[in-house]
Amino acid sequence: MNSATAQANPNIAFIKYWGNREDHYRLPVNSSLSMNLDGLFTRTTVSFQPSLPFDELIINGHEVVGKGLERVSYILDLVREKAGIKMNAEVMSENNFPSGAGIASSAAAFAALAMAGSKAAGLDLSEPELSILARRGSGSASRSIPAGFVEWKMGEAESDSFAFSIAPPDHWNLADCVAIVSSTHKKTGSTEGHAIAGTSPLQGARVADAPGRIDLCRNAILNKDFEAFANIIEHDSDMMHSVMMTSNPPLMYWQSATVEIFHQVREWRAAGLPVGYTVDAGANVHVICLGEYKAEVEKRLREIPGVKNVLVAGVGGAAKIV
Ligand code: DP6
Repeated sequence: MNSATAQANPNIAFIKYWGNREDHYRLPVNSSLSMNLDGLFTRTTVSFQPSLPFDELIINGHEVVGKGLERVSYILDLVREKAGIKMNAEVMSENNFPSGAGIASSAAAFAALAMAGSKAAGLDLSEPELSILARRGSGSASRSIPAGFVEWKMGEAESDSFAFSIAPPDHWNLADCVAIVSSTHKKTGSTEGHAIAGTSPLQGARVADAPGRIDLCRNAILNKDFEAFANIIEHDSDMMHSVMMTSNPPLMYWQSATVEIFHQVREWRAAGLPVGYTVDAGANVHVICLGEYKAEVEKRLREIPGVKNVLVAGVGGAAKIV
């Protein structure tokens, strides 16, 4: 059988990946840290078939060609090379979360593709090898391979830039309440953003300070120190967006509702509610809280004008063959 199905969660970065030192291999300028999002997943089936004249990609029932297919074929080429096979493949992928929901689908998508593709080709890759393969498709996908709370070490070379788990999902009961303020497709995607990150004069300072932020965030997670955790994730997110806003061309992802949520979250925390915010390359706000407060946080977010929907996720596990 030349077919396999894998499932992977998206992840939310607490210390962000923004900028590559090498674009082709997706070698980042700094290490990053994230948590997998439970309940949200991409499920992908790869089947290598001798009769196929080219690779085929079907996402949520629709055939995808052009750039999307090229990116998938690039990963399949790496798999074919490793396995010594020449067959083309059919790739069928389904997301159980809405696209444009402020949750990067590329992380879950390339993690599931790396796992299903390598398995279907008869390869038995280790977790670091899978993380590296996923990274080649989308940097953040490297972090959707291991379980729970995950660190992607920037590494020194292509072969040691991979992600590993720093704590399992049940280590700390956190929830991500994603406040959707915009569901329109962002104008500038992450790949283009990484390419211009270095044009901001602030990027050097952000990168130089990253090892310290990684240590603070890792320790906050390991010690379950929510106050320290909230402070560092907000600081890191604000730093990345400062770089984005001062790049050439400048990237402004925030909407007015995005900023309103920042103010509210900080007020709530000052009044004793354990919440903190972080934002990826979009307008939607990931409001992280202790799990027992998720219903309260969701309710409060829904009352803010401009919030169209709220998705709630706990801490997710590793990518897996299903
Ligand atoms: C802001 O992994 O989506 O979400 O490698 O080009 O696919 P590509 O970029 P991607 O970048 C993620 C950027 C971010 C921060 C993060 O997830 O660390």
